[in-house]
Amino acid sequence: MLKDTLKELLSCYGPSGSEHAVAQKVRDLLEGHADSVRTDVLGNLIVEKFGTGKDAKTIMISAHMDHIGLVVTSIEKEGFLRAAAVGGVSPGMVSARKVVFASGIHGVCMIQPDEKTDRPEMKNLFIDIGAESREEAEKLVRVGDVAVYAPDFTMLGRHRVASPAMDDRCACALLAELLLYAEGQKNHIVGVFSVQEEVGLRGAKVAAYHVEPDIGLALDVTAWGDTPETKLPAVRLGAGPAVKIMDRSMIASPLVREKLFEAAQAAGVAVQREVLAFGGTDGGAIQTSRAGVPTGTLSIPCRYVHSALEMIDLRDMEGALKVLLQFVDLA
Ligand code: CO
Ligand code: ZN
Repeated sequence: MLKDTLKELLSCYGPSGSEHAVAQKVRDLLEGHADSVRTDVLGNLIVEKFGTGKDAKTIMISAHMDHIGLVVTSIEKEGFLRAAAVGGVSPGMVSARKVVFASGIHGVCMIQPDEKTDRPEMKNLFIDIGAESREEAEKLVRVGDVAVYAPDFTMLGRHRVASPAMDDRCACALLAELLLYAEGQKNHIVGVFSVQEEVGLRGAKVAAYHVEPDIGLALDVTAWGDTPETKLPAVRLGAGPAVKIMDRSMIASPLVREKLFEAAQAAGVAVQREVLAFGGTDGGAIQTSRAGVPTGTLSIPCRYVHSALEMIDLRDMEGALKVLLQFVDLA
């Protein structure tokens, strides 16, 4: 079940560079269901399901395991931790949030408005782990340890879930389910559960070089345009997965885009057209690998991206899975 898989994957600690708990969970979920499973030097988990077609193409489908975090830069004498962003942590969303380290140590994240600008700024961020002195804090946390928003799986209404790390564990869940359910499909599926996307698409870059795919596809969240003050992108939760036209990292290959629309039609799933003026996905790294790879991105609409409560609609995920099952057959 997509929702159960999602819940499992959302519970894992996994900031950029420390994705192994997520990789292990995916391995457990896919045990006995893949033709080949391996981990590369950077930590990308690569899972293959061979195709049966005579002219089978190799399709690399990537979903990143990492999520944004806060790395401890120093410890003050009063016991507060100073920290910097790992990936796109926004100062407006980080205050008064519960965070957790790999060790299970919890903390409260806080930014008090800057004296000069009166705005929250990352340089003023600190994490309060309840320590009363530097000595006490040093027994619990070291410089270089990374905190993430503490797991908080919340159902809202009948179809929506908010949680930290939805970017991009919802896509990891989708890719895992695709590898579970694809059976006798025409093309070779190489599922890449990638590392270090949030710090610059680094895992997907080496994975694409290694896999040498005929077609690339990234699965990721995209932004939303359906809350009171937000009208762009023209993407709504619950209106289906979105076929990316372009973002800052990539102009999607027309060929792959068309195949995605065809797959959606064959699956009877409504899809949205997505133009994102910012952001990027693993697709950008796959597309420019070696001599170039025709690449697209299928997106899950997500509200409040890079906050402690990123919200998706489960129906969009279910739709995306149906589209992917068609795509691996007809691409
Ligand atoms: Co992200
Ligand atoms: Zn992402």
